Amino acid sequence: MHVFKQHTALTEWLNSSKAKDQTIGFVPTMGALHEGHMALVKQAVQQNSVVVASVFINPKQFNNISDYEKYPVTEQADITMLEKAGCHAVYIPAVEDIYPETAVHIPLSIPHLENILEGPNRPGHFDGVVQVVHRLFSIVNPDRAYFGLKDFQQCKVIQALCKEYFRNIHLEFCPTLREESGLAKSSRNMRLTDKGKFKAALLYKALKMVAADCYRIPLQEALKEAGQYLAEQGIIVEYLSCANSETFELTEDWQTNNRNIVLIAAYVEHIRLIDNLQF
Ligand code: PAJ
Repeated sequence: MHVFKQHTALTEWLNSSKAKDQTIGFVPTMGALHEGHMALVKQAVQQNSVVVASVFINPKQFNNISDYEKYPVTEQADITMLEKAGCHAVYIPAVEDIYPETAVHIPLSIPHLENILEGPNRPGHFDGVVQVVHRLFSIVNPDRAYFGLKDFQQCKVIQALCKEYFRNIHLEFCPTLREESGLAKSSRNMRLTDKGKFKAALLYKALKMVAADCYRIPLQEALKEAGQYLAEQGIIVEYLSCANSETFELTEDWQTNNRNIVLIAAYVEHIRLIDNLQF
């Protein structure tokens, strides 16, 4: 597997693949890789002749400096995992390679996404995601790009980005990989104690409680019960809400045709975790 630190070397290598008509699959990450990331890489390997991953902890998308500073860095282990999964190249840039002094701010109007759930709770976060993914897509120019549905709202943001700037890139959204306990795999889980991991698994349990109540009791009651259950376990819930998975509008009532998505953000041991469930 090739390891590139500079975009110039990566594009030179990619150009030779593109000249041979090979399709390029791209998996952007912030490293501290786990099986959830690998599921994306493995799907990319099945669908493309060449697979590129990136590992870059993007400072612009952290609204909390200590979250940025504490973000786990496991570069050697990441390289080993990617190679094992069949990835052909990884791009691990320094901040200056992604954001040179000449970099311009990329505008993207996404008021609907900025105004609900992750938007108001993490001011500037999606703008940071847009800046880095725009830059990465411009460098790699893949045929297909892979994102996890664990970050459902991020998927919607990337969809809007592609509609505006990259209509040639096909997006693939992959299901959430979980621990046996139900806890969604996440780089942030590395910072949890065993007790914290046990508690964190209750987030998924709460989502399933809401799904089990579907049509049986009013949605607002189901959300309240699940929220109370988590509060009793000492979990601080930032939001627990239901949306229509097609329109991504928040909703007061159950949706038809399996278009419910319940989304949660909560703190366990001061670590912010998110998860969602569609049904
Ligand atoms: P990161 O959190 O490293 O995640 C990289 C990709 O892996 C994202 O698309 C995310 O949704 C997916 N992913 C994470 N956990 C997963 C799981 N348990 N199952 C399936 N997929 C999972 O998301 C980011 O990085 C950044 O915002 C990024 C898009 C790279 C821009 O900086």
